[in-house]
Amino acid sequence: MTIRIAPSILSADFSRLGEEVRAIEAAGADLVHFDVMDNHYVPNLTIGPLVCEAIRPHVKIGIDVHLMVEPVDALIPLFAKAGANIITFHPEASRHVDRTLQLIRDHGCKAGLVFNPATPLSLMDHVMDKLDVVLLMSVNPGFGGQKFIPGTLPKLLEARQRIDTHMANGGQTIWLEVDGGVKVDNIGEIVAAGADTLVAGSAVFGAPDNNGGYHTVMKQLRKNASA
Ligand code: DX5
Ligand code: ZN
Repeated sequence: MTIRIAPSILSADFSRLGEEVRAIEAAGADLVHFDVMDNHYVPNLTIGPLVCEAIRPHVKIGIDVHLMVEPVDALIPLFAKAGANIITFHPEASRHVDRTLQLIRDHGCKAGLVFNPATPLSLMDHVMDKLDVVLLMSVNPGFGGQKFIPGTLPKLLEARQRIDTHMANGGQTIWLEVDGGVKVDNIGEIVAAGADTLVAGSAVFGAPDNNGGYHTVMKQLRKNASA
């Protein structure tokens, strides 16, 4: 299984974001995870399309935009134009989930649904054909540096099963991403439960090398993910 590691820039130094995304790319990151919070769907307030556009020229890897906003639709064209490659959103935040997924694909991006810890996986049932990514939150959304919720592991197994069944029946590839509390010491069991795309914020940006890069922690994450 191909494993992708997506450092979340929520824990990066915002005063030098260009440098930070270049550093994670140099350290082997597969994606930049870009957390958008609106002080409405979640209590926190972060970054928008202008910042996405500003970091875009600094890296070649894809930008994985995680929308924690309500409503969703108006931001999709803006993020697509700003260079997003993946756009995921929370089904509770969109009145018309099927339409929002289609809108993301129509703008040339991969589309994904995000499941909060208490959100049932059945919400994916009737839109499987429109999903490129299923993202399970392993913390409640809104802040970096929270503790991994262990109930995510059995939920991952169930999501893996649904996705595998879909793909075995001729359906398109769907990535299974996990976000929140992913660390060097638990990434192995998270991958074992079926995740292929791992978001890590504080684990990466909280652990710089002596030379200021992120090679050591990225190597450890990848090693433990494939062990
Ligand atoms: C939380 C965000 C996460 C966050 C993860 O709402 O969606 O992407 O940055 O941070 P860590 O890895 O520190 O839990
Ligand atoms: Zn996120």
